[in-house]
Amino acid sequence: CAAAALVVRHRMKSSGRWAKVISILKELQEKCETPTGKLCQVADAMTVEMHAGLASEGGSHLKMIISYVDNLPTGDEKGLFYALDLGGTNFRVLRVQLGGKEKHVINQEFEEVSIPPHLMVGTSEALFDFIAAALAKFVATEGEDDNLSPGKQRELGFTFSFPVSQSSIASGTLIKWTKGFSIEDVVGQDVVGELSKSLERVGLDMRVAALVNDTIGTLAGGRYNHPDVIAAVILGTGTNAAYVERAHAIPKWHGLLPKSGEMVINMEWGNFRSSHLPITEYDQTLDVESLNPGEQIFEKMISGMYLGEIVRRVMCRMAEEAALFGDTVPPKLKIPFVLRTPHMSAMHHDSSSDLKVVGSKLNDILEISNTSLKTRKVIVELCDIVATRGARLAAAGILGILKKLGRETVRERENQKSVIALDGGLFEHYSKFRDSLESTLNELLGEVSEKIVIEHSNDGSGIGAALLAASHSHYLEVEEP
Ligand code: GLC
Repeated sequence: CAAAALVVRHRMKSSGRWAKVISILKELQEKCETPTGKLCQVADAMTVEMHAGLASEGGSHLKMIISYVDNLPTGDEKGLFYALDLGGTNFRVLRVQLGGKEKHVINQEFEEVSIPPHLMVGTSEALFDFIAAALAKFVATEGEDDNLSPGKQRELGFTFSFPVSQSSIASGTLIKWTKGFSIEDVVGQDVVGELSKSLERVGLDMRVAALVNDTIGTLAGGRYNHPDVIAAVILGTGTNAAYVERAHAIPKWHGLLPKSGEMVINMEWGNFRSSHLPITEYDQTLDVESLNPGEQIFEKMISGMYLGEIVRRVMCRMAEEAALFGDTVPPKLKIPFVLRTPHMSAMHHDSSSDLKVVGSKLNDILEISNTSLKTRKVIVELCDIVATRGARLAAAGILGILKKLGRETVRERENQKSVIALDGGLFEHYSKFRDSLESTLNELLGEVSEKIVIEHSNDGSGIGAALLAASHSHYLEVEEP
């Protein structure tokens, strides 16, 4: 009789715990809701902030950085160019042989190097010397077919994917770090100057011909393949967008009117914020405990660096308040950033009937063993809520750009397509995220969605930087005025 009472008590206790798990999940779901109306408000707020950021320096959380790119690749670019792509935990070096209109990219080689974590929070010299040394090693593999004309200095397109205040096409100072980098002595410095000093130290004779953000590189690379590309969006470790603006619509631009009448703008949309964003307590604590509190709020709800971490935080609460994983909180679950977005994606895509991928990820990464199917289902649901919110917000951001350009209705430009080049690991590898982004855009755009094309621009930012180095080369034949 006593034993039976114990079983009943245990059942009641566990059903109470389970009710608590479900209530945490439901509460999250409600807070993360993004109905169409809300997304339209987010898009409108984005458009308003775009105007404000273009009107004056510091006029908005959106920096709307003038890139000094007023001409996008035409296909005529020729010659051997290098590119360096720095913006996440890896950097890439590229060598591209451009063959002009007929041949386009004749040859392309690249190498990827991962950045030792201590260099992401060390000194400027240590980071740039490391990069310059890798670049020098790569240049040394240049073959005879690589065709660098004799006597020519090598030229580089430098993709530096952080907020930089550009002062020309080939110079700019770092405004702040994002995405887990924190090297204080680079902030406020010209990053081209820093790289050039390191290139000199390693004895590599190379000129930086163009300094670009990854969004600008992707836009340039996208335009090279498709004349209708008007914007580029990165969904990777971080998130950001760039688009082609009419120079007349940039009140803060006091330079000469470009011949093209256009200027590419790096929005730095990761720093967007609005009272319409569905922010939860998990977002708030993630932000407060981050390396850059109060900044990159949109990015922290959308991008690859943070999605897994949001899921971990909810799991932690379920473990603490509802004993989801037993009487104690699994110690590994308490480690920030231990659950990465690729792990989350693998769990979210688990289509096995017993959710064995979820089980093995929980086991391998968090050392949580023997989870029930019910528990695994909760985890999948959790991933779905967090990924869907991120994807839908990214779609709202894209709608904001289309609204700014007046391309969100069918009235205008009846037959013109608007192509948006997308890149980044999150977009490329997290199919449920990508599917949700695409279906949300259709939902938001209605019949206009036929005119809007999302195109994956695979590693476009490296090629794009090489193309921009080519169009800003010292060796270009000077046109007659
Ligand atoms: C971060 C950077 C931004 C970059 C984006 C995507 O938001 O601040 O410059 O474009 O990540 O890599």
